[in-house]
Amino acid sequence: PAPGWTVEADAIVVGSGIAGLTAALELRTQVPRVLLVTKGRLLSGSTVWAQGGIAAALHPTDSPQAHLADTLAAGGGLSDPEAVQVLVTEGPARVRELVARGAVFDKAADGDIALTREGGHRADRIAHAGGDATGAEISRALVAQIEAVRHDPGIEVVENALVLDVLTAAPDSTGRRRACGVTLHVRGTGSRGGVGAVLAPAVVLATGGIGQVFRSSTNPAGATGDGIAAALRAGAVLGDLEFVQFHPTVLWLGSGAKGQLPLISEAVRGEGALLLDVDGHRFMPAVHEMAELAPRDVVAHAIVRQMAATGADNVLLDARHLGREFLRTRFPTINRRLLEADIDWSEEPVPVAPAQHYHSGGVVTDLDGRSSVDGLYAVGEVACTGVHGANRLASNSLLEGIVFASRAARDIAARFDAGELKPGEPAERPGGSALVAAAARSRIQKVTSAGSGVIRSARSLADVDERLGAVRADAHLAAEVVAEPQAAEWETTNVHMVARALTRAAWLREETRGGHYRTDFPKPADAWKRRVQVWLDDDGVL
Ligand code: SIN
Repeated sequence: PAPGWTVEADAIVVGSGIAGLTAALELRTQVPRVLLVTKGRLLSGSTVWAQGGIAAALHPTDSPQAHLADTLAAGGGLSDPEAVQVLVTEGPARVRELVARGAVFDKAADGDIALTREGGHRADRIAHAGGDATGAEISRALVAQIEAVRHDPGIEVVENALVLDVLTAAPDSTGRRRACGVTLHVRGTGSRGGVGAVLAPAVVLATGGIGQVFRSSTNPAGATGDGIAAALRAGAVLGDLEFVQFHPTVLWLGSGAKGQLPLISEAVRGEGALLLDVDGHRFMPAVHEMAELAPRDVVAHAIVRQMAATGADNVLLDARHLGREFLRTRFPTINRRLLEADIDWSEEPVPVAPAQHYHSGGVVTDLDGRSSVDGLYAVGEVACTGVHGANRLASNSLLEGIVFASRAARDIAARFDAGELKPGEPAERPGGSALVAAAARSRIQKVTSAGSGVIRSARSLADVDERLGAVRADAHLAAEVVAEPQAAEWETTNVHMVARALTRAAWLREETRGGHYRTDFPKPADAWKRRVQVWLDDDGVL
């Protein structure tokens, strides 16, 4: 639909997780007019759900170089060493900045920030808050800072606003597109309700992940890949989409359970919990020298293999030896959630199974968050900075969010001052294809989970591609799409588009590496030590 209203800004930030809030707070002091939009409330999104913590070489016996080595090892040879170098060297200062912004981390006996360990780390470098509520505490502190300036003329916050598309100006003489704003659908009927446009020469996507593409995930319901889909439609290049991370230990609530499922933090294994199969046999020591604390992809795949070997739908996480009092105080969120499920984990092992958790790929960016579309930036989970490669190291995501959001904000400010970022006129865009009915969401999730999930093959991926094509072609579903679509239709269209794009990337990558496991190509291949990139051509073909 045509926008019913238009406003102007110098920079628009889309999303209010750690990356979006950081970008908005930094931009507020550096460019005159910042608009922060979020599709729920400021405190919705994935960051608030982050449990384990944020990784940084904060201890005197640790070093950024050791953090770099662990990140590269987890990334399966595909991480960009330059991006990782930026992450690990700037990380400690950004974490201290979070403290200065009011985030309260748990303290060790000596008064310093307490540090724990998670999978793939060879040092204690995970800072945590509220035991296992790190994301909630970071979000609380950053949102409080936004609230404190909310009435400043330099920043405006719009909640309940779903980003629809990134507006682009006509391509320049080199054919490069330039972002000049976004269209939004704002829930509500005020002067800014319905579909509107924000014109701005800098657009920062911080829209988070894609959990809704799969049947079960640790992500909240809002993780519908809106930024990835909007960037694709705007002509941006996407990379590493096939590297979907499945968290090894998500509470197993029965085979019918779907949607957002409770995470049992990797920090529980960091504190000594063990993985057992349903027959009580510990299997990780035979798989990897780091046993339960091997990188996440290794543990998730080992669990899936063990489940197949025992014919069970889950394995067990045994934390009984850690004791009731320790479990209650160190992991209050998990403890509460388990009690709700009638599980006393000091008395019995916890049934767990892998579920979708994080998207290592996304909108390809440089070290300053710039995408291939001029003026379009991506930060946080929606971005592919190159730090994660084929598998993200535990607790590097919150860190990536602050480090690269901060860099993007500084880059925008510098380019703004240099007169490089100027308002543009949105060009007529080729008509988009029809929306996908909200009712198709569970069918998309089922199909994608079955064929593009933890275990894949050319046949399963081709099957997903065909079935997803059928979802779009289904006349019955198309007819159901109402004349005035609501957020659910746009979101489902995005879920569908992301599912197709990641399936295409997974089909192209004929090897097994990191989070991408192909039964028909079970080993890594040197020829595939490169990034798969996808984009939409002018005819809308991937
Ligand atoms: C966890 O607490 O296990 C999640 C940490 C992460 O995803 O990095």
